[in-house]
Amino acid sequence: MRPATRHRGVRADMPPPDRALLSRYIAAVMEGVNAFGIDPSGGWSRVGFSDADMAARRWLCAHMTSLGFTAHMDGVGNVIGRWGEPEVPTVMVGSHTDTVARGGAFDGLFGVAAAVAAVAALRTAGLQPRLAVEVVSFADEEGRFGGMLGSQTLSGQVTRAWIDQARDADGIPLVDAMAAHGLCAHDALGLARAPGSVAAYLEAHVEQGPVLEGAGVDVGIAPSITGVCVTRTRMTGQADHSGTTPMDRRHDALAAAAKAIAAIPGVLKAIGAPDARATVGKLDVTPNTPHTIPGVAEFTAVLRDADAEVIRALEQAFAAAARAAAEANGVACQMDRISWLDPVQLDPTLAENAAAAAKAEGVSHLTVPSGAGHDAQSMQALCPSALLFAPSRGGISHAPEEHTDHDAMVTLTAVLYRMITDLVA
Ligand code: HGY
Ligand code: MN
Ligand code: MN
Repeated sequence: MRPATRHRGVRADMPPPDRALLSRYIAAVMEGVNAFGIDPSGGWSRVGFSDADMAARRWLCAHMTSLGFTAHMDGVGNVIGRWGEPEVPTVMVGSHTDTVARGGAFDGLFGVAAAVAAVAALRTAGLQPRLAVEVVSFADEEGRFGGMLGSQTLSGQVTRAWIDQARDADGIPLVDAMAAHGLCAHDALGLARAPGSVAAYLEAHVEQGPVLEGAGVDVGIAPSITGVCVTRTRMTGQADHSGTTPMDRRHDALAAAAKAIAAIPGVLKAIGAPDARATVGKLDVTPNTPHTIPGVAEFTAVLRDADAEVIRALEQAFAAAARAAAEANGVACQMDRISWLDPVQLDPTLAENAAAAAKAEGVSHLTVPSGAGHDAQSMQALCPSALLFAPSRGGISHAPEEHTDHDAMVTLTAVLYRMITDLVA
């Protein structure tokens, strides 16, 4: 059991955060990164290892360098800006700048902007840190290839076998997507941080849910993060003529997929876990033309819960429902697990520090378990980790309508500033 992070209470002898300065630093990063990946059909698409994602990472690297950080992009695309002595343990602060396709302007990016702003403001305030501080934008947090490559790399959770089988939903191998940007996916195997070399990891993020806005609270503190199991199901039937083929002689792959997907509410009810979630977000039909009975239908199902056993039960029950749907439609069914992220409990002492920092900043806070996955759940395997939320308007995320007020971002960044001070001053 790792020693819990020392809880010294927030440093009263340090100057309070300069909100106006934080505001400027945040705006510069948000505007700079969001200049990349604007999707003409709405929102932002900086999907992991896309040209837009990598261009935004290069911009962030140059921006942190201009602020006086020692910045670089590592072998898997993590962008890391370091402040402090080279040989001392570090506190890592950050999130991610990749997005889902047609995602929002705040998911992940706000946490990176908050980290840059807090650390740049601490440098401006003249703090001489006892530990080094590293600001990080992790690679592929959104899991285009499953998992969370960047943070799982630093926390030593990536294997050669996983790398070699990793493909995105269109079948593009991770190895190829990274090679297109001069990166070698197997470099991940040599980038794990030594135990003890990272004292703590702090992540600010937009809540992506309705809790804080509904409660009128400024800051969310996550005690835990849900587990995430990504599955892919392929129904294989027979493409055939939509007019000449009688209904009782079809092998309709889409009919089987539809029946399996429609079984989800019943599966969830049978499992009886009130907070479990299952989402089918991607469905591909072949040949996908009006006059042909679909020969192939492939879809992803993302299963989540705070209890790993519940997720496993969901996975098995959904697989049984998919097989039954396939049999009822005379098609073959193949269901594969694409990736698995364990649910985690985050560091309780850091959570206490966060509450103390919010109090010192004069803002309200609430405990909000995270229903979304985050890099903090990877980093908790390496070091004590904390995850803090700012309110999301209408709770919307992973959509162009995603929004968090600038003032709310400054408030959470001020709390992050105090937490970093507490750890390194
Ligand atoms: O999907 C998630 O939970 C996160 O946005 N990667
Ligand atoms: Mn995110
Ligand atoms: Mn996300």
